[in-house]
Amino acid sequence: MRRVPPYFDHMLAARRPHDPARDVHLGFWDRPPAGNDFAAAQFALTRRIASLGPPAPATAILDIGCGFGGLLALLNQSLHGCHLTGVNIDPRQLRVCQEIPARPGNRLSLIAADACALPFAAASFDQVYCVEAMFHFPARTRFLAEAARVLRPNGRLVLTDFAISPQTAAAPWPDSRIAAALHGEYGPWPEVWMPPETLLRHTEAAGFRLETGQDWTAATLPSYRFTAPDTGAPPTVQPSAGAALRWLHGSGRLRYLALSLRLDIGIKR
Ligand SMILES: C[S@@+](CC[C@H](N)C(=O)[O-])C[C@H]1O[C@@H](n2cnc3c(N)ncnc32)[C@H](O)[C@@H]1O
Repeated sequence: MRRVPPYFDHMLAARRPHDPARDVHLGFWDRPPAGNDFAAAQFALTRRIASLGPPAPATAILDIGCGFGGLLALLNQSLHGCHLTGVNIDPRQLRVCQEIPARPGNRLSLIAADACALPFAAASFDQVYCVEAMFHFPARTRFLAEAARVLRPNGRLVLTDFAISPQTAAAPWPDSRIAAALHGEYGPWPEVWMPPETLLRHTEAAGFRLETGQDWTAATLPSYRFTAPDTGAPPTVQPSAGAALRWLHGSGRLRYLALSLRLDIGIKR
């Protein structure tokens, strides 16, 4: 089994059973944050994901790196006749997802597996989601090939990911220290330096065609007030992953991308 990101130990320890706040990703604000509204902004991001290429009724849907089941719970509420499947490398998180009761007419399956070695037959799903999780996987290209394999022809992959460009301007730390922080706390984080064009090239190489691409960098930036607040202290020699991400995001070197992709019919896989 692959390594579970260590920050989940704290999140699991702090979690109250049946807490309805299930999202483990940045928030989305379409106006400046007002007070302590992080959970609401996280849910706003989940709602945006669900409406970015909404699935057809009665479909088979897979959420890879499903966290505590925020997206699964929302899809379960809004869809009927669907088979929802959540995959996670961490069985403890899947146990949290077990709290979600499938609505009559829907089915919910929870599977412990690695995103880069999915235990499903080819062409099993109509729609695959991967929200803010690809940077935790051993290799984005292997994950995208797996997503393409398990999707039916013309199926859809909806994802969000961080695309970070290599150094272009003065930064408080050398790129090697930024990469060390991201590898250490959020690793494996393959290909730390991956500008948006490279991510799109990877999706095309796996057989996907871009349907909708949105840049949510500005809308997600207020999240660091909650996840890694800026104390105003001078930068330390080695940044924490949170401080490094906050700086990358605020400087524009990190772009938060939301993509809806179609598996091209006829691509030989
Ligand atoms: C930042 S969280 C996002 C969770 C969820 N998608 C959400 O948006 O609330 C990343 C998730 O990816 C999972 N993960 C990490 N490595 C994985 C792997 N190799 N295969 C499957 N899931 C993995 C983590 O355990 C975690 O649930």
